Amino acid sequence: MQRSEQIPRYSLIEAEAAEGATFAAEVERGLTATPKRIPYRFLYDAQGSKLFEEICETPEYYVTGAEREILEARSDAIAEHFPARITLAELGSGNSAKTRSLIEAFLRRHGALRYVPVDISRGMLEASAVELLEQYPPLEIRAIASEYRTGLRHVRAETGRSKLIAWLGSNLGNLDRAEAESFVRGIRAAMASRDRLLIGIDLRKDRRVLEQAYDDRGGVTARFSLNLLERVNRELGGRFDPDAFRHRATYAVDEGRIEIALVSRRAQRVTIDALGLEVEFAEGEGIHIENAFKYSLEEIDGLAAATDMRVADRWLDPRERFSLNLFAPLG
Ligand code: AVI
Repeated sequence: MQRSEQIPRYSLIEAEAAEGATFAAEVERGLTATPKRIPYRFLYDAQGSKLFEEICETPEYYVTGAEREILEARSDAIAEHFPARITLAELGSGNSAKTRSLIEAFLRRHGALRYVPVDISRGMLEASAVELLEQYPPLEIRAIASEYRTGLRHVRAETGRSKLIAWLGSNLGNLDRAEAESFVRGIRAAMASRDRLLIGIDLRKDRRVLEQAYDDRGGVTARFSLNLLERVNRELGGRFDPDAFRHRATYAVDEGRIEIALVSRRAQRVTIDALGLEVEFAEGEGIHIENAFKYSLEEIDGLAAATDMRVADRWLDPRERFSLNLFAPLG
């Protein structure tokens, strides 16, 4: 673990990455399984992260805009839940663009704020810290460069004031419902009774709206998915022809989830040199790469109850596509 304190009002904790299965091991396991799959976390190499930022700007992907609308309209109302100075922690803060309205609201209300962004990318944390500190002189930043779970251990140690832990962007939706519950339970374990969790959750809605959001006309989401095959080519000596696969996003209404797959356009065999592997695909066969779960308001209430919390407040965008929820510990 390293600490650097070169920028005033700024500190960084860098945690070693937890031992997770490597890309090579997961690709080998997933492409020899039935049905074929690769875990969604591997979508986010440098190229994938750039493409995801582009997805957020597409007209079809309403998620980012709807959440921004709520934050812009409701940040003062959120801040009103906290009578005294707080620590605002954010899981997956990225460039902190979506958090600015909240930061400003807390500064308006309390005149000062400690911000604890948690993100895997140290570069992103430092770049956004420089901008935030310049723009907001009363702000103090304690950045944590780590995965969520390790980051939460550091967030838990922030006990001097009430904490608001923000988990925005519907990132919860990429976990299946049991994993989501277990993850939120982990957040709850980092909270004292006066702390709150602000969680952005996308809502169940019309199939067409959802399928277009995950398959935009400009083809950005398709490129984001296909980048996974290009990543196998770049890093593992794969011989995938990305043109021989297509991106498919289907909404499974009963499960309330978008299922994303790369579908082989023809029968083909693909070798992956670094794995010494030859993978056979039938025409129309898919590789599952991502789910995006959607929630009803009742399901969100259920998630809060299952994790020993209640929904203390909730805000929707004017078109009721997306929800921001303030969870408070029970008892
Ligand atoms: C990051 N995550 C919340 C996005 C989502 O909506 O599930 C990832 C994404 N995949 C394709 N489009 C957006």
